[in-house]
Amino acid sequence: MQDIDPKRIPPHVALVMDGNGRWAQRRGLKRTEGHAAGEEALFDAVEAALELGIKWMTVYAFSTENWRRPLDEVRFLMRFNESLLLRRRDDLHERGVRVRFIGRRNGRVPKRVVQRIEETEQQTARNRRMTLTFAFNYGGRAEIADAVREIARGVAAGDIDPNRVDEKMIARHLYAPDMPDPDLVIRTSGEYRVSNYLLWESAYSEFVFTDVLWPDFRGKDLVAAVAEFQRRERRFGGVEET
Ligand code: IPE
Ligand code: IPE
Ligand code: MG
Repeated sequence: MQDIDPKRIPPHVALVMDGNGRWAQRRGLKRTEGHAAGEEALFDAVEAALELGIKWMTVYAFSTENWRRPLDEVRFLMRFNESLLLRRRDDLHERGVRVRFIGRRNGRVPKRVVQRIEETEQQTARNRRMTLTFAFNYGGRAEIADAVREIARGVAAGDIDPNRVDEKMIARHLYAPDMPDPDLVIRTSGEYRVSNYLLWESAYSEFVFTDVLWPDFRGKDLVAAVAEFQRRERRFGGVEET
């Protein structure tokens, strides 16, 4: 914490919680036990984020491509995320955390899970200390496609002038239009890829990659990533100010 400049805390930190399967396999456990062990990592990270004063934290919990996994694992992940909400939402609420979800809610996500998501969002809607967003059945390309479809509908209905479609309009049609772009994206488990996460929003994010497997991730790893972020120079296509 001493390395951290409290005046330059990234307002929005996004995490790719990766490496649960490998963590479990190394211990001779089932992949699903790795997902279960990831819960402690998540709530340790949330605790550290609250202490640091991070206002927005977004975590990748299930991608639109994760449906390709074995049915047992997919089922586990659906149930697990549902039970995690049930077990943790009161605590998050008491801490002033607003919980939200981005991703496709229709189609394959079980109704019961959607119900829990909506309940939790309603319960915590007025909290402002931090917004914790779960990217669930989320894909960056799906999000952009969904936004474009909405805009196309508006054009077809005569509500939108096609000449006025611009970056701002697309951003307004994303899943969480009020969410600021992530300043920092952290990916665990030594994989150096984006895997369809926040494609539009991460255009100018700083990326920090760590070899730590997600279930081993702790608050100190978040602090280290923020320290790394603070050593970076963001230019947004411009030149360094002198
Ligand atoms: C990330 O861990 C969790 C989800 C994708 C739901 P993985 O399950 O991808 O773990 P590895 O990458 O196989 O080790
Ligand atoms: C990204 O991890 C998705 C989540 C962490 C939920 P994956 O493990 O699915 O990504 P790939 O397959 O390694 O690219
Ligand atoms: Mg993975």
